[in-house]
Amino acid sequence: MRGSSMVWVGFIFVGLIAMACNSQPQQSQVPCFFIFGDSLVDNGNNNRILTLARANYRPYGIDFPQGATGRFTNGRTYVDALAQLLGFPNYIQPYARAAGSSMLKGANYASGAAGILDETGNNLGGHASMNQQVTYFAGTVEQMRRYFRGDTNGLNSYLSKCIFYSGMGSNDYLNNYFMPTFYTTSSDYTTKAFAARLLQDYTRQLMQLYSLGGRKVIVSGVGPIGCIPYQLARFTGNNTRCNEKINQAINQFNSGLRKLVDRFNGGQLPGSKFVFLDSYQSSNDLYMNPTAYGFEVVDKGCCGVGRNNGQITCLPLQQPCQDRQKYLFWDAFHPTELANIYLAKSTYTSQNYTYPINIQQLATL
Ligand SMILES: *[C@@H]1O[C@H](CO)[C@@H](O)[C@H](O)[C@H]1NC(C)=O
Ligand SMILES: *[C@@H]1O[C@H](CO)[C@@H](O)[C@H](O)[C@H]1NC(C)=O
Repeated sequence: MRGSSMVWVGFIFVGLIAMACNSQPQQSQVPCFFIFGDSLVDNGNNNRILTLARANYRPYGIDFPQGATGRFTNGRTYVDALAQLLGFPNYIQPYARAAGSSMLKGANYASGAAGILDETGNNLGGHASMNQQVTYFAGTVEQMRRYFRGDTNGLNSYLSKCIFYSGMGSNDYLNNYFMPTFYTTSSDYTTKAFAARLLQDYTRQLMQLYSLGGRKVIVSGVGPIGCIPYQLARFTGNNTRCNEKINQAINQFNSGLRKLVDRFNGGQLPGSKFVFLDSYQSSNDLYMNPTAYGFEVVDKGCCGVGRNNGQITCLPLQQPCQDRQKYLFWDAFHPTELANIYLAKSTYTSQNYTYPINIQQLATL
């Protein structure tokens, strides 16, 4: 008798939880979302780190309801927009502030200036490199284990449904290989050998995510950073021509990354699905044909100082441009919110920039 009344209490309790959940405006398509990357997706992890790569001051966040949170753009990042499309009621929180059961929804480990190589970004100060971010995630998995009461199969099954995003490599070029005053890599390696070196380390890091439980993984290629306002100001001066030497080096990395995705999906990592995100092609399309996407200015940042608003990035309390929706770049390095939202929608719903499937398909696997 006592047993059955316990069951009834249990039913009512579960029923109340179900009602509470149903009354929420939306429910996410996947249980959690973990993010690894650099300033393109950092949402505040660098705020308490001693570094020049920080964005927790105005006018960063000018179009974000919570203001300057540490995001390196005027509003939402690509992963913010993607989290919304995946149905998460809130943005994925920065690892630096994640605590308790909220980690069950995921965490964002991205850190401005970070790269695949630990030394990358040291010219700007502290950061969490990809190796460090993976180590943090290993700690998160240990904490999550407590909520599964040591049920390893249950935890692994849960993690296997989650989406992982990793966007790495931009800084290994910008704040390493193409900064010979600070780093020796460009004399140690040809561009081809450097891409191979990066891919070797990245392979190991992604395999670590897999062994920690990651199964649905989006890996982003590097965008055409030979075309960002910073490079236009630095190398080609007062015009809109891209630095093709940088873009070629990036393409060597990207094509290797795409092949890596094929190898992972082709049986090297059983039960996993990796999606290659062609950020090079997407940014290039916006850059080459801006008016088709509603942009008018692609060669300068909306906020910045010097040639192309790109020699120095957006400074505290600087007045940004008024018509932000017309700009592809918010500052010398980072796209505006509108560009991020466009990319999120396009990679979620179409196969224009994702390989071999789009993100909606990845979510429903
Ligand atoms: C860029 O070039 C144009 C035309 O050559 C010139 O009028 C302008 O002052 C230049 N701007 C900068 C910032 O050098
Ligand atoms: C995909 O590309 C095609 C052809 O360029 C375009 O018409 C379509 O709008 C794109 N879809 C999305 C969702 O961006």
